[in-house]
Amino acid sequence: MTQEKSLAAPHFLSNAVLIKQGAEARVYRTEFLGKPMIVKERFPKRYRHPALDEKLTHRRTVQEVRSILRCRKAGICAPVVYFVDYISHCIFLEEIMSSLTVRDHIASIQQSGSCKEQELEYIADRVGQILATMHDEDVIHGDLTTSNMLLRCGLEDGDMEDMVIIDFGLSYISALPEDKGVDLYVLEKAFLSTHPNTEALFERLLKTYAASSKKSSAVIKKLDEVPQLTLSRN
Ligand SMILES: Nc1ncnc2c1ncn2[C@@H]1O[C@H](COP(=O)(O)OP(=O)(O)O)[C@@H](O)[C@H]1O
Ligand SMILES: [Mg+2]
Repeated sequence: MTQEKSLAAPHFLSNAVLIKQGAEARVYRTEFLGKPMIVKERFPKRYRHPALDEKLTHRRTVQEVRSILRCRKAGICAPVVYFVDYISHCIFLEEIMSSLTVRDHIASIQQSGSCKEQELEYIADRVGQILATMHDEDVIHGDLTTSNMLLRCGLEDGDMEDMVIIDFGLSYISALPEDKGVDLYVLEKAFLSTHPNTEALFERLLKTYAASSKKSSAVIKKLDEVPQLTLSRN
């Protein structure tokens, strides 16, 4: 029964090219009706009890799709969702063409040596603005890293559609400033450990976030408190 229902996804995956094997999901590139498409497949984890695994995997698939749709409604760039197969836990997404991760982009700017401070500041400002809009919609991403942000190449500076947020599997909806503060804290840790000497740049990102969000003061206050919160919990 289950096999019959999930025939659609394996059929597409037979011609797909694996582009990333993660701990939770495989990401493939393929084509559908001549359109480039990304398929994200959450596979079973054998170390988990099957019923629990099914429940968690289903929840993450639902959360990912729900948050992408909510973001897109709010005007935040996230890939179009073409189709979801809840049996094989596959999400069929628009491929963001000619894109690279913000992580790779920052690294290449830093490696190029020449002074490209303005380009870095532009990226920090865009991330700050987008996260402010996302948090004002009460979407908590749950896994904010510069690998989960894509930049379309070849667009002119200042184009508002240049940055795309992906990988919403750990996202959820919450209006609590603490949840938003933790979201920013996760990004801060990832950002500073991935990109050396970017403390001032991250400060700029936060400043832009604060200026762009209607509810930022409580969030920034919580962000400052997160290290104490995690210490007192341990
Ligand atoms: N819609 C997309 N368009 C283009 N590339 C994508 C897209 N979705 C994912 N990718 C690529 O696949 C990688 C992994 O996808 P992601 O959703 O972040 O999965 P994971 O949970 O394994 O991190 C991304 O860093 C990006 O390089
Ligand atoms: Mg990712």
